[in-house]
Amino acid sequence: CGILAGRRTRDLVDVVLSGLRALEYRGYDSAGVAVLTPGSELVDRRRSTGRLADLEFRLLADPLPPGAVLGIGHTRWATHGGISEGNAHPHCDCTGRVAVVHNGIVTNAAEIASLLVTRGHRLTSGVDSEVVAHLVKEELDLGWDLAAAVRITTRRLEGSWALAVLAAGHDSVVLTARNSPLVVGTGQEGNAAASDPVALVGTCEEVSFLDDDDLVELGEDVRWFDHHDLAVQRATTRLRWRPEQTGTGAHADRTAREIDEQADHAAELVRTWVPSVRSGRVWDQLALPVPERVRFLACGSSRHAAEVGARVLRRLAGTPCEVTVASEHDPADQVPGELTVAVSQSGETADVLRALDALPGPLLAVTNSPTSSLARRADAVFDLGVGPELGVAATKTFTAQVLAGVFLALSSAVARGRLPRSSTAELLDELSATPEALHRAGRLALHRADELAERLAPQPGFLFVARGAALPYAAEGALKLEELTYRWAQCHPAGEFKHGPLALVEPGTPVVVVEDGAAALDTIVHEVSARGADVLRVGWGEGCAFGVLDRPEPHAWGPLESIAALQHLARTLAARLGRDVDRPRNLAKSVTVV
Ligand code: G6P
Repeated sequence: CGILAGRRTRDLVDVVLSGLRALEYRGYDSAGVAVLTPGSELVDRRRSTGRLADLEFRLLADPLPPGAVLGIGHTRWATHGGISEGNAHPHCDCTGRVAVVHNGIVTNAAEIASLLVTRGHRLTSGVDSEVVAHLVKEELDLGWDLAAAVRITTRRLEGSWALAVLAAGHDSVVLTARNSPLVVGTGQEGNAAASDPVALVGTCEEVSFLDDDDLVELGEDVRWFDHHDLAVQRATTRLRWRPEQTGTGAHADRTAREIDEQADHAAELVRTWVPSVRSGRVWDQLALPVPERVRFLACGSSRHAAEVGARVLRRLAGTPCEVTVASEHDPADQVPGELTVAVSQSGETADVLRALDALPGPLLAVTNSPTSSLARRADAVFDLGVGPELGVAATKTFTAQVLAGVFLALSSAVARGRLPRSSTAELLDELSATPEALHRAGRLALHRADELAERLAPQPGFLFVARGAALPYAAEGALKLEELTYRWAQCHPAGEFKHGPLALVEPGTPVVVVEDGAAALDTIVHEVSARGADVLRVGWGEGCAFGVLDRPEPHAWGPLESIAALQHLARTLAARLGRDVDRPRNLAKSVTVV
């Protein structure tokens, strides 16, 4: 979910809505906004199910009163309670004087709700967050000011939260957070707060992050208190993204833009890091010793990227390493002395952060958000620096994460003397050629994607197959296809097909074969072709649906360029099927609940 809160005398509703638009990647089941006009006895609220556009439509028909100076807004990814207007945020108390937006989960909400009912409250939603509004109102009735009322309320809550609270008669929005990100920005025309700094681009110049249990009064001034209620100042950072980086540009959607941008970002990463890889000093640059053992923790696309780095680390540097699905992490598996590398583009994925709770050893974060909760928790940060990724499905950050893993692995290999000079030079030449290879693969894929999408549109399910170093890319291609098109897609190592998946192949079943230059996939191609499969080879040579490889020999990190083709295939098919490419149903980009 995404939160936006603002205090300004001009354009308040527009600023809240444009901030929410930037946060829509966090959830888009429903949206809402509440404002307070000076002198008003009640909060004014509008909510709607569906996308932010539905709320905007609602606001055209039923506008908020002019002159409001304080506002809060929310875009929801449903966890507790179904998708309905009544469950959309902001939630209010019975009198409509207090309004709350919340991210996270209040785990003892059911218990609190029962108590509130015995005290005469009428709860109208099925959402955990609603209890907060009622509790705050009780404290206000006892004579506390809004900041104290919120503080007393959060002492009764268990779970996680980022909260923004508005109350009639109080001239600030009160913000507080625990285990859920919240950032406050200041600007010339007013102050604002959000779940992600990207929502403040264009309205604020500098931002500061809340530490756990900080409480902030966002009024004409910003007053900041720590968990002891002592006044504090938190470090400020300038917003590094520019407004023009947050739109679709010349592309049809964000996802298309982000796929297209990845080759340029890869070039920038190669330029920045290859000199340090050559001298084996990437780890020095991160102020970490070359690790003896590594555990990668990640989810989704980040996990597929981690698989690439882990393989190169094992093979070329001889470093033992494992990749753990963050939600399955068991602290008992942790090996003393291992370095944990958490790979998360957002740095806010709750499964990753939760896995770090009992972490004894050092932590490296590989992230696109160097101010994220993960980055702040880490001993060192590998900043991907690829600009905002707002399409829900990861694209350019996947490619950047792969490269980061390869840089770390090759640097280990050089530092440990595992690579003769000549092979290092050869590997670095190959690495330096990847941006151009990605460019070429992207162009080629675009050229073929429409025609393939047309052919594949009626197919209900897809199989992806690869071996060895190509497997993470095939798995990522299958995930992209599922996320964007809502069609089933399974990925299996070639040899596993005969142990089950082959039963799924019927005449016309698309089988996407992701090659890495080696010819060892011929057998599976014959087996599925013999059963009538529609084979789409992504590889090298004649007869490929996407001939993205420019040589038959594999790279140590596998066929990275194939990802451009797989992403384009998924996006083009999704568009052909009329899907909302940037905001696939049921998903959110930053999953901040476990
Ligand atoms: C969500 C997104 C995926 C992403 C995963 C991990 O499920 O929809 O695209 O790969 O989270 O996100 P992270 O920010 O940790 O890389």
